Amino acid sequence: MATPLIIDCDPGHDDAIAILLAYAHRDVLDIRGITTVGGNQILDKITDNALRILSFIQADIPVAKGAAGPLFGKLVTGEEAHGESGMDGPALPPARFRPVEQGAVEFMLDIIRASEEKVTLVPLAPLTNIALLITAYPEVKDKIERISLMGGGLCYGNVTSTAEFNIYVDPEAAKIVYESGIPITMSGLDVTDKAAIFEDEIEQLKQRGPVSKLVGELLDFYSIYGKKMGYVGNALHDPCAVAWLLSPELFQSRHLHVTIETEGKLTRGMTVADQRTKPDGECNVEVLVDVDRSAFLKLLFDALARLDQQYLATAKGV
Ligand code: RIB
Ligand code: CA
Repeated sequence: MATPLIIDCDPGHDDAIAILLAYAHRDVLDIRGITTVGGNQILDKITDNALRILSFIQADIPVAKGAAGPLFGKLVTGEEAHGESGMDGPALPPARFRPVEQGAVEFMLDIIRASEEKVTLVPLAPLTNIALLITAYPEVKDKIERISLMGGGLCYGNVTSTAEFNIYVDPEAAKIVYESGIPITMSGLDVTDKAAIFEDEIEQLKQRGPVSKLVGELLDFYSIYGKKMGYVGNALHDPCAVAWLLSPELFQSRHLHVTIETEGKLTRGMTVADQRTKPDGECNVEVLVDVDRSAFLKLLFDALARLDQQYLATAKGV
């Protein structure tokens, strides 16, 4: 039975790659819907990016727009890393369809209520939509199987020394989600920085079919910021949250009590893990801490190869 899934995202180069990875495995991951939230860029831009990616692979998945910004304060975007459009680099054809009229919260609520099985949520962005959903409709928590998210980090941040972007943008929302009692798998920087792709591997992608080539071009742009920040290789952050659902055996994890700092001058947006033998709270989060990088890349490359074949078959009208 395929896992019913909702992806909440802010495409975003790595969000786009995560969506492609999930869609290539639609026999295992049944993407019932995609919701968007202000993050890497403003809501309209990242929603258009989500629609363009889905249009490019002719994926018939409904998209609903969510929160334009965090629960409190102003939106901080990731424009420096993702560019003016939120997904600079390759020129993607215009989107072939529009978002649904419904807002993301009611859209997710209807999908979850209508599903016979519990639904897995895959947030790849600030957690505003998820926090709004479970606050407005707490009963829905009983029908959420798990949250496999990209966000946070045990040892360091990437916006500040302590806070990772998705948590930093909306710490109050993250606190609501981390303290919700819903099982969480956290792909934080501890694992995503190890899930890196290097220039020679990006070049390989660009020599392959149209979807692989698109991903290579997305990564070419995405690597500009990485180089500027001194990173070696391109961390494939968001795809980790999908890859764990597909092949958890590729990862190593620790079950920890994790909550979110919302007050600290230096630590606002930090995912705070209690790593003592007797933590102050239940171990609510499976924190991914390592990955078999070559196996992870093979999973991604094989998925993109499948999408290449499907793209070319459709183009031939097969
Ligand atoms: O810190 C990485 C996260 O921030 C990823 O989700 C990326 O898309 C950006 O949103
Ligand atoms: Ca993202």
